[in-house]
Order: sequence, then C-alpha cells, then structure tokens
Amino acid sequence: MRMYDIIMKKRNGLQLSKDEINYFINEYTKGNIPDYQVSALMMAIYFQKMNKRETSDLTSAMVNSGEVINLSSIDGIKVDKHSTGGVGDTVTMIVAPIVAALGVPVAKMSGRGLGHTGGTIDKLESFDGFSVDMSIENFINNVNTIGIAVGGQTANLAPADKKLYALRDVTATVDNLSLIASSIMSKKIASGADAIVLDVKSGSGAFMKDDESAFELGKAMVDIGSALGRNTIAVISDMDQPLGNAVGNILEVKEAIDTLKGSGPEDLTKLCITLGTYMLLLGGVANDTEAARNMIEQTIETGAGLRKLREFIKAQGGDTKYIDDLDAFEQAKYIYKVKAKDKGYVNHIKADDIGRAALILGAGRETKESQIDLTVGIYLNKKVGAEVEKGEIIAIIHANDMDKAREAERMILDAYKISNDKVKPNKLIKGIVTKNKIIRY
Ligand code: URA
Ligand code: CA
Repeated sequence: MRMYDIIMKKRNGLQLSKDEINYFINEYTKGNIPDYQVSALMMAIYFQKMNKRETSDLTSAMVNSGEVINLSSIDGIKVDKHSTGGVGDTVTMIVAPIVAALGVPVAKMSGRGLGHTGGTIDKLESFDGFSVDMSIENFINNVNTIGIAVGGQTANLAPADKKLYALRDVTATVDNLSLIASSIMSKKIASGADAIVLDVKSGSGAFMKDDESAFELGKAMVDIGSALGRNTIAVISDMDQPLGNAVGNILEVKEAIDTLKGSGPEDLTKLCITLGTYMLLLGGVANDTEAARNMIEQTIETGAGLRKLREFIKAQGGDTKYIDDLDAFEQAKYIYKVKAKDKGYVNHIKADDIGRAALILGAGRETKESQIDLTVGIYLNKKVGAEVEKGEIIAIIHANDMDKAREAERMILDAYKISNDKVKPNKLIKGIVTKNKIIRY
C-alpha cells in the first residue's frame, strides 16, 4: 500500500477501504508516514468527506492505535459522559456522583487540557489533597467499592488522535464532521466506555455555532457508537450564554456543591437532570425517562448525591471540609463588581467573550505550560432575560490582579447586550439524537 495512492483516491472523491484507513493510521502513529502526506489526506477528507462506514473505520483504527482500557472487572454498564465543551460547564462534578449514587458505575478518565477554565481534574484539585494519581488497579477498586473514580489520562489512549488533532489544528482541517466525531469517540471508547451520553453544545460559546451543525455532529457520533457497539445518545444543549452563573474553577465547584444540595442555578440543574436521565437509561438502572428523572430528583433532595461526592473526594485524598463550609475554599484577593451601563433586559451574553475574560483572569490555560489560578473567575448575577437597572451589578469578578480585573470588566461589558424589549432565553435543551431518531424540541 502506498500513501500516495490513498491521498489520490480520497482527492478524487472515492471511498477508502478499512485496510487503507488502518494502514495510514498505524503507519502514521509509528512515524512511518510524514506529516505532509497526512496533511494532504486530511485536506482531501475535508473537501470530499467520509461516509458513515469510513468514519466508524477511522474511529476503530484510532482506538486500536494505543491502549484500550479494560474495565470488564467492574460490574455493570460503564456509561461515560462527554461534553463538546462550553463556558462554565460544571456538569460532570454534579452528574457523576448522582448517577454513581444510583448504581451506574462511573470510571472516568478526565483531562486538563486548554480552555477558558480548567478541566474536571483541575476543578477537583480545589479540594486540598485530591489526586488522580493512582494505579489502574486502585482506580478499578474504587469504582467497585464506592461506585466512582476519576483518573488522569496517563495511559497511551488513542495516540493516533493526538497526532492527527495536532496536525489538523495547524492545517485548517479541524472542522470536518467525520474528523471531529471520530476524534471524540475514539477517546471515549479507548477509555473503556460501554455506553456514552454526549452533551453537544450549540451557540456562541461552543464548537458548533448553530443548531444544525450541532445536530449533525450529534448524529455522526451516535452513528459511530452504533457501528462500534456502544449505545450512544446525544443531547443538544444551548451554549449561547454560559451555563449556570459561575465561570472559574473554585467558583464552579461551589456552584456544583450548591446544585447537589438542590439550590443550584436552574439551567445547570435542568441540564444535569437531563444528562443524568440518559445515563441511567443507558446504564440500565431505570426503565424510562420519567422514572430516571424522579430518581435523580430524589438523589438531590435526600442529599445522596452530595454524600457520594464526599465519599469520592475522600477516597482520592481530598479534604471534604469544604463541602460543609464553602467559605473554607481559598478566595481571590479582589472582588470587583461590574455594573450595567444601561437599563433594560439582558438580550444576550456572548459566552465565548465571558470565557476569554475568565482566561485573562487566569482561570484557564493558554498553553500547556500555563499555571491555573483556581480562585479567579466570574460570577454572572444576571442571565439572559433578566431585567436590569442602570448601575445594577450584572457580574462579579474574582481576581488576583487589578489590571486583569479591569480588562475583564471591559470584556464583560462588551459581552452583555442589553435591550429595551423583554427577551426570552433560548431553549436550554434543543433536542435528543438516538440511534433511531432525532427529536427536536
Ligand atoms: N475535540 C476533539 O477532541 N477533537 C476534535 O476533532 C474536535 C474537538
Ligand atoms: Ca457554571
């Protein structure tokens, strides 16, 4: 087989065979095919696209390019949850303990990564002493005894995807549906998921800027799941404004604890209940959405979800005093109030701009080497639809540097659009994609 022929075939709009896909993935992973040839192939795929069969073959090839975590010694259906990424998304910290409390084993490999705020692991490190450094045996043992563990992605998971994603990033070939869908799904499958619930975000703060492309991405990933024997459901949710009120690491952890106590923001609570519902269904511990929803609401009411969070943090070395006393968390030096310049109604909050403001404050990583400041971030007092008076506080900045706080203030004021007319926020849950149907709400 020759890489040249594979490139030409795709360039000419033909389908690649499973063997051809396996060949270029394996040889590229081993370093036997140069970046320039793979770049050319990615560009050919970008223009000529891949069909469903090619997309699932590409996913399997990437899964098999490295280690595949074997979770078969954990009883039950391991359901993983993945979000395509947004601003202020604290869902995992809430949903994981809830479904674990209800009997769905949570064996999660999480990342740090780049972004507006840290990843789930960074947030969990807000609990002094918490660590994801453990052997795979301890990881599995924790899931078997308390129902939940979060590990770092130390294993050699889908190395082909790591190389390809980095290459796509610098060759303008990221935004192809098959390439995105296979990239995400390969990592989930390699981390041992039996079933997957996807939260595909749509809007200004998301990878997919409009609903149409979010539904398409959801469908492409559900199709891969079906082809590879992983029951998969995608929830399409709004990310046109940040989720919840908190954007920042410790701020989001506090928000997650509030939500587990039943006093979290309405949108965040609703999305957690929806995603949790599908995790319970795929995990086989509930028979229908109605039953699943009731179980989750009960878990919040009785505090069982919060107790599971406590157990989990403790099992991984974290100090749990913060759960009872949110004021014990470290706080930023400056609390800076952002006041509305006009009166009216909040029409829109550009989520990506709020995310960038959080990044400027130090809540996220701009490069892999950046240090995260867990204490900084933004609390949004007013969300879309709210009425505001001139001079009223719309947001609160938590900062450790006043220059950065002032820069963030400018960005936040720019991100808020205030109009004279009353506005209704977008629907939070836009639809569901399952193996057999697409439901739009
Ligand atoms: N996220 C991924 O993991 N891969 C992509 O290709 C795009 C977003
Ligand atoms: Ca939030």
